Amino acid sequence: MDRILQIFQTSKRIEDTLFSKVISTDFSLVSELIRDADSIVNFAAETHVDRSISAPEAFLQSNVIGVFTILEALRKVNPSARMVHISTDEVYGDILEGAFKESDALRPSSPYSASKARFRRLRAWICENLWPQRLDNQVH
Ligand SMILES: NC(=O)c1ccc[n+]([C@@H]2O[C@H](COP(=O)([O-])OP(=O)(O)OC[C@H]3O[C@@H](n4cnc5c(N)ncnc54)[C@H](O)[C@@H]3O)[C@@H](O)[C@H]2O)c1
Repeated sequence: MDRILQIFQTSKRIEDTLFSKVISTDFSLVSELIRDADSIVNFAAETHVDRSISAPEAFLQSNVIGVFTILEALRKVNPSARMVHISTDEVYGDILEGAFKESDALRPSSPYSASKARFRRLRAWICENLWPQRLDNQVH
């Protein structure tokens, strides 16, 4: 069966939102999936801090290359769509009291949080160098 057809058949639709699972490093599948979307929300990630310390490679693949792949697919096939990327407050490091602000400095302390923090730099670099008509703050 056609791979993209299979993805759509196993996706779940709730009102206007389609929930799909696709390996985020697969550029052709991601491109087909997002081609007609108004907005994309990326939840996919390797998430376990302890595992990121014992086996960081998968975190770089999913949380850096995967996000780069989605941004590139967006830029090439659906440049007007909005992207929301789920990150983590762990990118700011540890806090004893209160809460971080988005403008706080990034101080990731594990391969997990470092791979999540990489998204911000990647987003800024892509918007500045590859996609100048796209404002950095249009990818969240
Ligand atoms: N749960 C929390 O407390 C928490 C806190 C802060 C941020 N987040 C973020 O929210 C998101 C969801 O977290 P969760 O707790 O549901 O995590 P989870 O580990 O339960 O779910 C993540 C899913 O992503 C999938 N995945 C991993 N690599 C992938 C890839 N390359 N392509 C496609 N899918 C891939 C995994 O198989 C898993 O099903 C993550 O981005 C996580 O970093 C979660």
